[in-house]
This record gives sequence, C-alpha cells and structure tokens, in this order.
Amino acid sequence: MPIVKAVIPAAGLGTRFLPATKAMPKEMLPVVDKPAIQYVVEEAVGAGLTDVLMITGRNKNALENHFDRNTELESVLERKGDDRRLREVHQSTHLANMHYVRQRDPMGLGHAVLRANMHVGWEPFAVLLGDDIIDEREDLLRRMIEVHDKQPASIVALQEVDPSQVHLYGIATVEHTEDEGVVRVTDLVEKPSADDAPSNLAVIGRYVLQPEIFDALEKTTPGSGGEIQLTDALKDLATSGAGGGVMGVVFKGLRYDTGDRLDYLKAIVRVASNREDLGPDFRSWLHEFIGSEGRL
Ligand code: UTP
Repeated sequence: MPIVKAVIPAAGLGTRFLPATKAMPKEMLPVVDKPAIQYVVEEAVGAGLTDVLMITGRNKNALENHFDRNTELESVLERKGDDRRLREVHQSTHLANMHYVRQRDPMGLGHAVLRANMHVGWEPFAVLLGDDIIDEREDLLRRMIEVHDKQPASIVALQEVDPSQVHLYGIATVEHTEDEGVVRVTDLVEKPSADDAPSNLAVIGRYVLQPEIFDALEKTTPGSGGEIQLTDALKDLATSGAGGGVMGVVFKGLRYDTGDRLDYLKAIVRVASNREDLGPDFRSWLHEFIGSEGRL
C-alpha cells in the first residue's frame, strides 16, 4: 500500500525557546521568511505525501491559520498587483490536504503520535517532527519510503552524534545489512548517559511507521521525563518484531533542530546563504562581519 499520509507532531511546549514561545508556537519561528513548519510540510509533499495531519495544542492557532487562506491579505496584494507575494501567500494554502487534531496535554511525542490513530487507520504512515528541518537538497524521507517499500518494517532515521550528545536522543543498537546505509535496529534506549549508550546512532525526527506502532503506544507507560516516549514503543517493535520490526536509514546530511537556539541560528545562516535572492549580499556581509570579529 503506497504511503500517502504524513503526521506532523507540533504540540510541544517549546520550553527551550522561551520567552519567544510563550504565546507563539516554536514551529512558527521564521527561517528567513518562511516558518519552520512550512519547510517540513514542503518536505512531506516533495516525498509524495499529500495528506498531512498536524498534531497541535493550545496556543497553536497560528499553525492552522498559516495553511489557511487569508482573504484580506490576498485582496490587498491583488489590488496592488503584487503577484510575487500573492503567489507566496497562496503557496502555503494549497500545499497539501491539511488536517488537525489536538493533543490536549503535551504528554510526549508517543502520546502525540497516538492521537493520529483515528485519522491514519491501519496503514503505514510517515512522521515528521514539526521543528526539525532537513536540508532541502537531501532526500532522506524518500529513501526511507523506498526501504519500507522493499521490506515492510518501521523505519527510523539515524544520525551519528558526538558521545557528549547521546543523552539528548533515543539511541539505537544496530546490525548492518547488505544495503549500504541501511541497518536493522535490534534495540533502542531513550536519552542514555554516554556510559550506557549502546552506540552513537541517534534517532532523528523522521519516521515511516507500521500501524502496529499504535498497539505498542497503547501499552507504553510514561518513561523518560514522565512522557510517553515514541522510542519506547519503537523498542517494543524492534524487540518483538511486530510489523516487521525496525530498520534504520543512516543519514549523513544536514538537519537542524529549530527548537534549539544554536541550531536555529545555524539554520537561518545556511538557508539565507544558499538563497539566490539574499545569498550573495548576505554571504559578503557575513564574511566582513566575521573578519571584524563581531564588531561590525
Ligand atoms: P521536543 O521535545 O523537541 O518538543 O519534541 P518540546 O517538548 O516542545 O521541546 P522543549 O524541550 O520544551 O523545548 C519534538 C517534536 O514533538 C512535538 C513537538 O512539538 C516537536 O515538534 N511534541 C512533543 C508534541 O507534539 N507533543 C508532545 O507532547 C511533545
């Protein structure tokens, strides 16, 4: 069955970005001139997923508004004949079939994904974290879908991280396969200490999941941080083999956790530098700025 549904959890509190996220979702923070969430939806659509379910919560109305029409703005731009901006405003409205469900309390990523059960039904689906941007030149999600097409299993994206960072991620125990960059995940642990970590392969924010994940999530009790962890349900699938077990695609490209302040700044600098319209001027300013040791 081809995968057409994408689930985007965006109901977290974004505490690492306070006070900016007190009244505004972190997924709406702009990366140059588009909110982070739009890059994520564009990535899903680029990978062939046309049905997007966003998991939202209180304070998250801006997310729905961004993907809806703004008729007042449209008529002002039309009157001015500003076709370029009108196209940009239309783009987010017509990207995909958008659906929303609320997670009443942010009880963890696993809890958020479980809210998608009614919409997804019993079919495989993709999950893209709403604050995690993968560089648009990468084709990670498409590759994960290909791996799933060849061998039905739940697929996680893995990235090597510095051992000092393993306590921030779900970490995988893996076995290599004949397929370059594809591994079988035999176990997973959420946020281990550097000493207890079985590897430095961290689970990052893209998943292709078999529907068996819903059964596993129903059974999952609160774990690390008192939250229902998606990693714990995936560990269940990896060790029981339910739904074909868990495979991993090792990703070596660029990604940014825009919920982390430093990563967010890096995302803006990279995206701006690579833009055709802003890049040349921005890069030359950046060069001068660094030359002046930040005093410019
Ligand atoms: P994070 O752990 O990065 O989100 O979750 P957070 O809890 O908002 O972050 P901090 O630590 O407080 O800054 C990754 C993704 O999962 C979503 C978030 O919105 C984010 O896109 N999420 C997390 C939910 O949808 N619900 C939750 O209960 C937790």
